[in-house]
Amino acid sequence: MSKRLEFPKDFFWGAATASFQVEGQIDNTDWSKAGRDGKVPLVNSGPEHYAKYKSDFDLAKELGHNSHRLSIEWARIEPEEGKFDLKEVEHYREVLQYLHKNNLTPFVTLWHFTLPLWLSEKGGIENKKFPEYFARYCEFVVSHLADECSHWATMNEPNVITSNGWMRGNWPPFKKYRIFKASKVLRKLVKAHILAYKKIKTKDLASEVGIVKDNIYVHSNVNPVYRLGFATFRWFWNFKFLNKIKHHLDSIGLNYYFHYHLGIRRTIRDKSDMGWELYPEGIYHTLMELKKYEKPVFVAEAGIADEKDKYRGQYIKDLVYWTHKAIADGVDVKGFMYWSLLDNFEWALGYGKRFGLIGIDYESEEKTRTVRSSSYEYKKICQENALVIDDGGPNVCE
Ligand code: BGC
Repeated sequence: MSKRLEFPKDFFWGAATASFQVEGQIDNTDWSKAGRDGKVPLVNSGPEHYAKYKSDFDLAKELGHNSHRLSIEWARIEPEEGKFDLKEVEHYREVLQYLHKNNLTPFVTLWHFTLPLWLSEKGGIENKKFPEYFARYCEFVVSHLADECSHWATMNEPNVITSNGWMRGNWPPFKKYRIFKASKVLRKLVKAHILAYKKIKTKDLASEVGIVKDNIYVHSNVNPVYRLGFATFRWFWNFKFLNKIKHHLDSIGLNYYFHYHLGIRRTIRDKSDMGWELYPEGIYHTLMELKKYEKPVFVAEAGIADEKDKYRGQYIKDLVYWTHKAIADGVDVKGFMYWSLLDNFEWALGYGKRFGLIGIDYESEEKTRTVRSSSYEYKKICQENALVIDDGGPNVCE
């Protein structure tokens, strides 16, 4: 017997990309410089999405998507302090117009990790004026592109930026265990979001302005020490930032990738090529945790690095199943964007990890695209606006 789980009318189905990870040929950012200095893998032309966006979006449309999340590269728009490049604005205008032409609703993130080199040389986020620089850039972009987009997010994953850049030290600016600096940086990002939110609203009141936040599902057995530890971690990682910006926020984009568990468990799950355990029901819990903010939510990223495409199809169905359950239990989820449309530059891990619905042959001159078979599993969901479960169905909660 098959079961049909319907999604709300006008649900957004799509995939996500980020400019630096797919566009190629961006030399003037902190990450490009770190690559030249040998601190992280060197970004190269990659999938060349900057030039090939049309055929990529044709594929997204063929795959049944009706929306797409992308980001704008700050260093292209403002290559020098205070000097804005209108040619690049036009490029992104064409990108957005092409999405509309293909009935793909754009969701734009204004800043996805990479800083213009001029700004990183002035201290980046640690610069006193960072919130002003950031808000000026956001205001500039929205004032030029408001006609083409009404779903904006100021920034992607503030906690990840801070923990990788100032605690683990594996991302620019490569600082380690700077706990006080890290919390100062996080506060700066709160300020930057709020200022950008206010500035954007002076330009285009109708726009939805949100944030994209990575949240982790943390759970344990009944051990009170574990429970207390995780309650603190949950507050710090999942809620603290959102609590501070909640009065300047129209929607929340959730990135869900993993869970932390303490205590003995009956089953151990398969792992992705990132070594992350596949725990799709965590998306349900992280969505439910967002209910208290009473904002529309969309899944801005959830996905799997799986070069052999062994788990992706089922994992997507499981994620969608648990997203449906969160909607049934009262979360106002508006959309689901798989990470990622294309294989891409996985930050400090380079091009080796394959998250794409569409695979890239980096060796070929044409950067040949191959649609992975799991993409067709997702296509069925997008086209039906429903998940049809035949037998067995998704994994169940422990
Ligand atoms: C980021 C992406 C990244 C993905 C997989 C998210 O944290 O937004 O840029 O590629 O995770 O690691």
